[in-house]
Amino acid sequence: MKVLENQLIVIFGASGDLTKRKLIPALYQLYRQNLLPKHFAILGIGRTHLSTDQFREKLLVGLNSKPEGESGILKEFKPFANLLHYLPVENYDPAGYSGISEKISELEHTFQTGGNCIFYLATPPELYKVITAGLDMHGLNRQEKGWRRIIIEKPFGINLRSARNLNHHLLNCFTEEQIYRIDHYLGKETVQNVMVTRFSNGIFEPLWNRNYVHHVEITSAENIGVEGRGGYYDKAGALRDMVQNHLLQLVTLVAMEPPTMIHSLSIRNEVLKVLQSVRPIQAGDIEKQVIRGQYTGSTIKGIKRSSYREEPGVSAESRTETYVALKLFIDNWRWGGVPFFIRTGKYLPTKVTELVVHFKPTPHRLFCFDEGRFNSDNQLVIRIQPDEGILLKFGMKVPGAGYNVQDVNMDFHYADLAQTDLPEAYQRLLLDCMQGDATLFSRGDAIEQSWKIVDPILTAWENNPEIPIFGYPAGTWGPQQADSLIDERDMTWRYPCKNLSDDGIFCEL
Ligand code: BG6
Repeated sequence: MKVLENQLIVIFGASGDLTKRKLIPALYQLYRQNLLPKHFAILGIGRTHLSTDQFREKLLVGLNSKPEGESGILKEFKPFANLLHYLPVENYDPAGYSGISEKISELEHTFQTGGNCIFYLATPPELYKVITAGLDMHGLNRQEKGWRRIIIEKPFGINLRSARNLNHHLLNCFTEEQIYRIDHYLGKETVQNVMVTRFSNGIFEPLWNRNYVHHVEITSAENIGVEGRGGYYDKAGALRDMVQNHLLQLVTLVAMEPPTMIHSLSIRNEVLKVLQSVRPIQAGDIEKQVIRGQYTGSTIKGIKRSSYREEPGVSAESRTETYVALKLFIDNWRWGGVPFFIRTGKYLPTKVTELVVHFKPTPHRLFCFDEGRFNSDNQLVIRIQPDEGILLKFGMKVPGAGYNVQDVNMDFHYADLAQTDLPEAYQRLLLDCMQGDATLFSRGDAIEQSWKIVDPILTAWENNPEIPIFGYPAGTWGPQQADSLIDERDMTWRYPCKNLSDDGIFCEL
């Protein structure tokens, strides 16, 4: 690993939930592993009136409630706390940045951070433009004494127009190389492993195309509802919240061509090419290729769960989707004609994210399967979370007379490795930004391209309320209509369980 240059991190929105739950714990883990630079400090900026001591205390509580928060953490926390500083601001208007500028200079001087600085925008998206304009107006974006970088959280726009607009604004204040648009899925170890699995093994790539792959399935299921985020979610919905960013990122990693080298430019170029090849769904096909659903009230494991429309912050007549399933095609030489099925939803039976590559059957049927089938359902399952690992399903002779065949699993679980600690996504992403490596961050053109895929669906839903939104009881696998997307005989979605090797049963109901 490169030795990190000395630097300061300035977090806007520092009194908020993201800073407490994700950013500070991630920085703390880097600190514990001695991965932070020698001269380093963190400045939190927020609208809540807190002293630096109160800020430290608030975050200490956050760290201590982490599962690994045992006595060692408390002892170690003190020197880390000394790196944390806080500055309350009345609002983020450009006029108030002289105070911020002075505080940055003071910390740069005290901690000798060498003029290098990351600005992390952990604020509501409405503030992205205001804050970056303020930084620009006070010259805080200028790379005269050291480098300046900016990290932008999702959501990046609410449609193509707003994403373009935001990109345009950011590029007036910073160069593309200074901008790090974060998508926490790319920080997941298992997501990065998709590329490694594909391109470090000679056995998969020859099969990884339309000649051998029947279809690809991507599922990201959650077994919780909107958890107090109804106000945000009701304006977003599953398509914006999960598909435009995380799931399309997964599509790009499964579908991309091998990059010429492991370098941000070549990887991000390949990502963009996949997104450019995704065939936009025509207005007339939306009902056939996209199924949306919303959870209704039910009882899960004896506990009554209210319907989405009863969640705080959600309209009683909401038509926002908490579930969406799509059928996409990638129009290029590798994937021509291979459908990609994608689904995500809140309050499904279990929390799981996985990619499943379904291979084509053998051209000639020789054997009979126990279940009356004639072919093995060869699948390669890449499990992103939980029970991270890889599983291959293939047919094997049932011992005894005749040639009966059954499907068996060959599986690898990360838990079997000696070093099983999977770093948190934010840990990896913060470290990458601190090193100036943008590979795992989204480029502006790729974000706009992914909105081009999603926009026609949003427009069709907006313009045509007749397009149905199906109810599904909380705790089930979404509306039955989603099965009709996979329209071939005997084929359904894989119904995964929390353990990688179990499937096919509606577990955990
Ligand atoms: C976030 C969404 O980006 O990702 C949430 O806003 C969702 O609604 C979360 O719950 C899922 O992330 P993970 O890492 O738990 O799969």
